Amino acid sequence: MENIVRFKHYVDIPAAIVAQAKALTVGSPWRQQYHIEPDTGFLNDPNGFSFFNGQYHLCYQWSPLRYCAGVWYQGWFHLTSTDLVNWQACGPLLEPETPYDSHGPYSGSAIASDNELLIFYTGNTRDDAWRRTPYQLIARMDKSGTITRQYPPALTGQPTGYTDHFRDPKLWRQDGQYYAVVGAQNRHLQGRCVVLHSADAHTWQVKGEIDLNETSTGYMLECPDYFELEEQGIIICCPQGLCAEKTRQNLYEVHYLVGEKLNVEDLSFNPQPARLLDHGFDIYAIQTMQAPDGRRLLMGWMGISEMHYPTEDFGHCGTLTLPREVSLVDGRLYQRPVAELRQLRGSCQQHSSMLGAGNRVKIHSGAVSETIITLGRITESVTMALRSDETGERKTLLTLDAREQQIVLDRTDAGQPINTDHGTRRRSAWSFGEQTRVHVFSDTTSLEIFIDEGAWVSSSRIFPREDQRWLIIENKGAEMAITIDCWQLKGMNNDH
Ligand code: FRU
Repeated sequence: MENIVRFKHYVDIPAAIVAQAKALTVGSPWRQQYHIEPDTGFLNDPNGFSFFNGQYHLCYQWSPLRYCAGVWYQGWFHLTSTDLVNWQACGPLLEPETPYDSHGPYSGSAIASDNELLIFYTGNTRDDAWRRTPYQLIARMDKSGTITRQYPPALTGQPTGYTDHFRDPKLWRQDGQYYAVVGAQNRHLQGRCVVLHSADAHTWQVKGEIDLNETSTGYMLECPDYFELEEQGIIICCPQGLCAEKTRQNLYEVHYLVGEKLNVEDLSFNPQPARLLDHGFDIYAIQTMQAPDGRRLLMGWMGISEMHYPTEDFGHCGTLTLPREVSLVDGRLYQRPVAELRQLRGSCQQHSSMLGAGNRVKIHSGAVSETIITLGRITESVTMALRSDETGERKTLLTLDAREQQIVLDRTDAGQPINTDHGTRRRSAWSFGEQTRVHVFSDTTSLEIFIDEGAWVSSSRIFPREDQRWLIIENKGAEMAITIDCWQLKGMNNDH
């Protein structure tokens, strides 16, 4: 660890090192066109997703020198937007510059409060023996963008009964009081969700744990989020260590729990059993925020720690999901791509027909596209070869199987194989109605699929070949009506 050069400020990194990092990315065939990704280095969790001073603010965990041997820098990279589609890069927002976050300003959140953006995050530190001390830190950003950090830290180390895996505070304000949920590991090495409370956002107390009513929450629970919809409380969290029990799923997962509104006095919540938030291969570290018009918006990291992606050969890794609007219907969380994304739409191809048994529809969808497919009743099954080559040999295969009442997402032949140790198929139980609507966003290396208005969602990375630009739909059952709208999408105005 000693011979790594650590930089506290991005501006102090010699231009030659930055140029070396950026040079790796030049010529990458894997650059996204309308999703957020770093111009070089590594991106993980979305942080500080908020609305303040007339703009959306969004940061991500950023390690721009990750692929430059021997040099290290980790911070929050900051973007702003007025429409959730076009983002302006503002550079680093939090840097590893104090003794309280020397080894990385880790994940955290932000809310607008009293003319400031109130930021609550975890400072990660290590001593010479590589022992970790986490700090929960408050920072404030004023309208001119100046950041003021508050000392002493809101919380130093971890509360009694917990290990040093204590991080990722997610803030909210309620009845003039401030609260945060924090991801924790208790001394029995079990994942926990802890609540912090403050009357003034300066002095914080540990309130206690929320009982998630689960037999297992893994060995650590990262990036919790709490919000309310339809008079109910919702917790989203990322338990680690469940994959041994639940085969076929991701190494680390994102769950949500719907319960009563959290009682901030006794922390009762009484949730229903946890559900998977997203059925894709690459999804983690979800963060939500409330838009000025009241919508609850969600973004996540389309990646998972310890997974590897072909972009790494070109010195970059990690991309965020599209922003999604969340709603709660009959105890189930729905996620829909935000309406603002329609401004990306360019030319549209349309198709409408009756599709007989064994028949196919084939459309040249392109790689950077949005497609809405509406199907009548599925009697047997329908397969959709997404980002397929012309023959249907290489593709990501989505099977809507009404017989077996399941949805199967299969990336076995999607292109360059990735993380195959964790399986190449994801299967989920599903009951199909009179109509099924499939909404797909494809970018160079990602597929986000929303079925039935976002009741089922999947986010996955794929690394197809150049010629995989087709959509092939095949009906294995009785004749059904099908309509397809397929838009070419414009790249976003992403100036970083
Ligand atoms: C989740 C996570 C967080 C932590 C951050 C550090 O991916 O491990 O728990 O704050 O990443 O980058």
